[in-house]
Amino acid sequence: MLSLDVKLPKKEYKIYIGKSLFSESAELLRGFVEGKKVCIVSDTNVYPLYGKAVEEAVAKGGGEGFSLVVEAGEEAKSFKNLEYLCREIIRRDFTRSDVIIALGGGVVGDLTAFCASVVLRGVNLIQLPTTLLSQVDSSVGGKTAVNIPEGKNLVGSFYQPKMVIIDTDTLKTLPEREVACGMAEVIKYAAIRDEALYETLLSGSFEIEDVIAKCCSIKAGIVEKDELDKGERMLLNFGHTLGHAVENYTGYGTYSHGAAVAIGMCTITLWSERQGITKSGTYDKLKALCEKYNLPASIENLDKMTGAAMHDKKRSGSKISIVLVKDMGESYYEKVDVSLLDEIAREV
Ligand SMILES: NC(=O)c1ccc[n+]([C@@H]2O[C@H](COP(=O)([O-])OP(=O)(O)OC[C@H]3O[C@@H](n4cnc5c(N)ncnc54)[C@H](O)[C@@H]3O)[C@@H](O)[C@H]2O)c1
Ligand SMILES: [Zn+2]
Repeated sequence: MLSLDVKLPKKEYKIYIGKSLFSESAELLRGFVEGKKVCIVSDTNVYPLYGKAVEEAVAKGGGEGFSLVVEAGEEAKSFKNLEYLCREIIRRDFTRSDVIIALGGGVVGDLTAFCASVVLRGVNLIQLPTTLLSQVDSSVGGKTAVNIPEGKNLVGSFYQPKMVIIDTDTLKTLPEREVACGMAEVIKYAAIRDEALYETLLSGSFEIEDVIAKCCSIKAGIVEKDELDKGERMLLNFGHTLGHAVENYTGYGTYSHGAAVAIGMCTITLWSERQGITKSGTYDKLKALCEKYNLPASIENLDKMTGAAMHDKKRSGSKISIVLVKDMGESYYEKVDVSLLDEIAREV
């Protein structure tokens, strides 16, 4: 088992990463759940696979557990489910020292964490992420959210968990499309911060625990410097502005989030290389890595899609922040005029 610390100005917590961790997590959980009420939130795909193991671990750790299951899918990140979870928790006479566990991918993680941050003005939260994306990205960093018709992730909070337990055995049941989706974020970390990770991924010979730990430590390092998303955290958006344009235009779900981000990362890097900003050959390296992990590097008609990015919530005035890599593992962000996106899309 690997472990790493996330050290924020006011909070510190541990991330544990290993195989068969859920069934062996009673001792990790004990310190938080012993003598407490514990609400496990999961979805209709994940609960049948891992719900019992987690319920048993909670019971073994001395907690009084029960589970709430929401329908799988992005629609679950709703006010309706938020209300449902809050009311169930209040009905069971929770106090702030009781515990809420998120067992699932980023959808369950974001919804549950938001609920934990607002119900009783904050109840202890533990994240048990079960998708590659949630293990390397959404469970680390404390962003929580629900969606509204006006857009995704527009209502939420910053709320850090007490602990994150990543059981990599859960990846065995994850559909291939979801694995590829998470790999796009892994490739993103290599591109923005870690050339050695790029080499590791290209070689294809690695233990997934090590790669996940590397990604978590890169994200934790960035979040430690910029918990509230005012600067450096922007780097985590590499490929995302164009990626959101693709997701928006094609309808969410047509391309997975990761596939859209892969298109975004490759496209902006092709453009920045042509501008002389990025070291020659970087685009080819990035494209090769994306293709190795079943991710697309380009899409037709991108120029039609960039209009949607104008509504990107990160936009302020007519300026938008974009992230560029100078070389594999070296990145920076800058504010540019929003019209540059159209220019990039037209030129590549
Ligand atoms: N908070 C953050 O910082 C942050 C960062 C990135 C993404 N997100 C959010 O994360 C969400 C996407 O997360 P996701 O990609 O994990 O999607 P998801 O939670 O919808 O999971 C994808 C699918 O896989 C299923 N699943 C999950 N684990 C499984 C397993 N081990 N075996 C079999 N099936 C499994 C789920 O039921 C679902 O159908 C989005 O809502 C996004 O906005 C948040
Ligand atoms: Zn992403």
